[in-house]
Amino acid sequence: MTTPVNGAVLETRGLVTGYDEIAIVRGIDLVIRGGAVTSIIGPNGAGKSTALKALMGLLTPWEGEIWLNSEPITREAAHRRVTRGLAYVPQGRIVFPTMTVLENLEVGAFILRRQRARIEEALDRVLTLFPVLRARHRQLAGTLSGGEQQMLAIARGLMTTPQVLLLDEPSLGLSPRFVELVFAKLVELKAAGFTVAMVEQKASRALQVSDWGYVLNMGRIAFAGPAAELLADERVKRLYLGEGSGVTMAESIERAEDA
Ligand SMILES: Nc1ncnc2c1ncn2[C@@H]1O[C@H](COP(=O)(O)OP(=O)(O)O)[C@@H](O)[C@H]1O
Ligand SMILES: [Mg+2]
Repeated sequence: MTTPVNGAVLETRGLVTGYDEIAIVRGIDLVIRGGAVTSIIGPNGAGKSTALKALMGLLTPWEGEIWLNSEPITREAAHRRVTRGLAYVPQGRIVFPTMTVLENLEVGAFILRRQRARIEEALDRVLTLFPVLRARHRQLAGTLSGGEQQMLAIARGLMTTPQVLLLDEPSLGLSPRFVELVFAKLVELKAAGFTVAMVEQKASRALQVSDWGYVLNMGRIAFAGPAAELLADERVKRLYLGEGSGVTMAESIERAEDA
């Protein structure tokens, strides 16, 4: 029997999961510390999104444990994890295009549906964090720019005032300007007291705004530590922080062997 680490809001130990018979996440220990930004980086296909889905309860762990605030949640359904304080923003800035910004945010507060005062409070907090959404709250989400839609997807995740906000590739497909705005926003969210854990392929940029980092390769953690240390580590730099982040499977195997 194992016990959670002090200071961890969300934690996994020996987590294994995958699809059908194939293990994709192959025994990972993650510690998501409160009030910090944590990044999970690694090549395409490393298992980053799979790990995030397991944290959220969208995939069942085959082995290992998950704790939220030192309580085991390994076998809990996703909706229960939302109630307990997890929020998940999937890859691809998914918003409801024919609903207004405000309606999209209200959908994010669905689990609070009988608590109008709490919804109003959450709305005000979120719209203060995202002034661009306040300015456009009556606009249809489909008419926002890509970057604004990603802001809306993140803001919707915050409507339950989660203890941990899980983000899958928040910068994916955005223009360089919006990539910077999204990363800057994550730092603002931390300053506002939120705990953020993200999966990112823009590895260097993600680590630069993070306190902690994990490098995932072939379903295993290749490196872990303070983000600044990972950024300075010669092997991490050489293997994972180069310009060409879209590496092939052969290169991933080579990197796993090198690391
Ligand atoms: N729904 C699925 N069914 C079967 N295999 C999947 C599914 N989703 C992802 N995979 C496989 O799992 C591996 C890791 O995928 P993923 O976790 O999305 O990687 P990453 O997010 O690091 O790019 C890939 O080989 C991918 O093909
Ligand atoms: Mg992914």
